Amino acid sequence: KAEPLVLGIESSCDETGVGIVRGTRLLANEVASSMEEHVRFGGVIPEIAARGHLEAFTPTLRRALDTAGVSLDEVDAIAVTSGPGLAGALMVGLSAAKGLAMAADKPLYGINHLVAHVAVGLLDTAEGQVQSLPPNTGALLVSGGHTEILRVGSLTDDVQLLGSTIDDAAGEAYDKTARLLGLGYPGGPAIDAAAVDGDPKAFRFPRGLTMPKFEGSAENPGKHRHNWSFSGLKTAVARAVEQFEKAGQPVPVADIAASFQEAVVDVLTSKAVRACQEHGITTLLLGGGVAANRRLRQLLGDRCASAGIELIIPPVKLCTDNGAMVAALGAQLVAAGASPSSLGIPADSSLP
Ligand code: KG4
Ligand code: ZN
Repeated sequence: KAEPLVLGIESSCDETGVGIVRGTRLLANEVASSMEEHVRFGGVIPEIAARGHLEAFTPTLRRALDTAGVSLDEVDAIAVTSGPGLAGALMVGLSAAKGLAMAADKPLYGINHLVAHVAVGLLDTAEGQVQSLPPNTGALLVSGGHTEILRVGSLTDDVQLLGSTIDDAAGEAYDKTARLLGLGYPGGPAIDAAAVDGDPKAFRFPRGLTMPKFEGSAENPGKHRHNWSFSGLKTAVARAVEQFEKAGQPVPVADIAASFQEAVVDVLTSKAVRACQEHGITTLLLGGGVAANRRLRQLLGDRCASAGIELIIPPVKLCTDNGAMVAALGAQLVAAGASPSSLGIPADSSLP
C-alpha cells in the first residue's frame, strides 16, 4: 500500500505552517510568521497572532501545494494542531482544516503540537534518520512552553512523562534572559547569536535541582532526579546584570549570554542523558524550538555519543513551529489505522 499523503496545518502560536508529507518523505514546508508584529510588545499578542493566521493561511496553503506538486484531491488526510497553544490562533487553523476536510471529503486528524515536535524527527530530513520509531525511544522536548523528557512507546498512543521543568520552560528562560540583557524578542536566537562572542566560563550560573537532596541516587531516586528548574538561573542573571549597572560598568552581555546558555544546555543535556540511561532508552529524539540552539545540538550530540545513545535531530527549520511536523504525525496516525477526529473537534489550549 502506498504511503499516506498528508497535509499538515499548524497555527498554535505566531507561525502559520502548512506542510505536506508522503509517509516519512517531506514534500513541502511553507511557514509564514507574524513575529515582526509582536516584537515591539516583547511577546506574542494572541489577537494579532489569530489575525495573522487568517491573512496568511490561504497563500501559505497555495505555496505548499505548488511546492509539493499535489492537488487537494490527491491528499489522503488533513492533520491540524488542536492544542496546546493560543486558543484564538488554534481556532483559525482548525476552522480552515475543517472547511478543507469537508469540501474535499477527507478525514481530519487533530494533532497534539508537542507530539508533533517529536514526530518530525522521523522525517527523512533528520540527522540519524530512522524509518519508524525504534524500540526504547525517548524524546527531549524543549520549547517556549515545555521542557520534558519522555519515553515514546508509540507516537499514536503511548507517550510517558519521565521528567519536566517545575517552573520556566527552557525557551521561556531564554526569552526572559534576553529581555534582561536588552537583546530583544524572541530571545532564543538572540542569545544563541550573542553567545558566540562570549566566554561560557565567565560566570558560574546555577544548575537547578542538581543537589543530592533533589536527585537522590539511581537506586533511590529523589523526587526531582529527572526534573529541571530554570527560575533560579534567571534570578542569578538578573543579579549579575544589576551588579554591573550599580557599579556603573558596562554589562558584559556576550559573556553573560554564553554563561547562561552553558548553564541551560549543561543541565538539560546531563539530566536528559541520565534519564535515558536509567530508563533503558537507546534512541533519543530532540524536538521543540530550543532544539534549534547550536550549543544544545553540539553538547547533546557529544554526551549522547559518550553514552552510546543514538541521537536524532531534525534540521533547524523543522525544530521551530511548522506544518511539516503536524503532517508527519498525521501520516503516522493514518499508517497506524487510527480513527479520524470528528469535524466538531475543539481547540484545546491546555492539551497535556
Ligand atoms: O516550539 P516553538 O517554536 O514554539 C513553542 O511551541 O513554544 O519554540 C519557541 C521557543 C522560544 O522560546 C524561542 O526563544 C526558542 O524556542 N528558540 C531558541 C532558538 N530558536 C528558538 N532557543 C534557543 N536557541 C535558539 N536558536
Ligand atoms: Zn512548538
